[in-house]
Amino acid sequence: MPRLKLPAPPLPAALQPKPRRPGTGNGRVGPLDQAAEAGITVVDWIDERTSLSGGVRWMLFRKVPKGTNWFYTLGSAAMFAFLSQAVTGIFLAMYYDPSPTRAYESIRYITNEAFLGEFVRGMHKWGSTVMVILVFLHMGRTFFFGAYKYPRELNWVIGVVLLIMTMLMSFSGYLLPFDQRSYWATIVGVNINGTGPLIGPYLSDFLRAGPEFGATTLSRFYAIHMLLVPGLIAALIGAHLYLVTKLGTTAPPWLKAQPDEKLTEDEV
Ligand code: HEM
Repeated sequence: MPRLKLPAPPLPAALQPKPRRPGTGNGRVGPLDQAAEAGITVVDWIDERTSLSGGVRWMLFRKVPKGTNWFYTLGSAAMFAFLSQAVTGIFLAMYYDPSPTRAYESIRYITNEAFLGEFVRGMHKWGSTVMVILVFLHMGRTFFFGAYKYPRELNWVIGVVLLIMTMLMSFSGYLLPFDQRSYWATIVGVNINGTGPLIGPYLSDFLRAGPEFGATTLSRFYAIHMLLVPGLIAALIGAHLYLVTKLGTTAPPWLKAQPDEKLTEDEV
């Protein structure tokens, strides 16, 4: 049977470049025309040297199966929750001090004195819960739609690692205010990790940065929370989206596969 190549999806009409005719309309080239022209020139300049537009088109303009619905937006929603956490986290890091004697005071300063501090901290705190919920809902969607099956098993596995990393973000962030609740809750959490088979004791030693909960524990949690895990999550989201683009998304399970007449008419 001859292999058929799917035609590249055309650019939507709204994005087709319209021929510019300077001097049309009121007869003058206005500042808006010049600004648009400058933007196009810059994009063209970069594209000529990098050919990035091919990759962007490959990523954004692809066929999606019939029946695609709102449940398919949960993955992107989880990604935007992550981006919001990254942005608010950057602003929090400008004021936060990961020292056992100053951490609580720096959080108090953010909440009560820094400009919009309470708002940014609130977004980060509530955002972490929102992200966990969205990741779980997205995992439920992919499970119930059978999207974990061939050929998407690897993307499911990457997803599982993303889920663990998301939970690790919440766990490591919880200690950072360094108040009574976060301190004792984290001791409980670290001890629970220690009960795991084989690697449990090593894992809790690693998290505590030694046999006792001490000054270095907080800086270790901070490094895990703002460097190690976000870096891993960003890289894994990249791999996850690459596979989504390469393999396409799964059709809803209630739709039966139908042969595409245009693609099969040559064969019959
Ligand atoms: C930070 C966490 C995550 C982000 C940002 C993310 C992002 C995305 C996005 C944007 C898509 C494409 C659109 C969609 O179907 O929603 C997708 C698809 C997919 N995700 Fe995730 N995801 C995450 C976690 C997970 C988890 C925890 C799992 C499962 C354990 C998972 C498994 C999958 C699978 C199998 C697909 C392919 C869906 C299909 O072919 O229909 N993802 N992900």
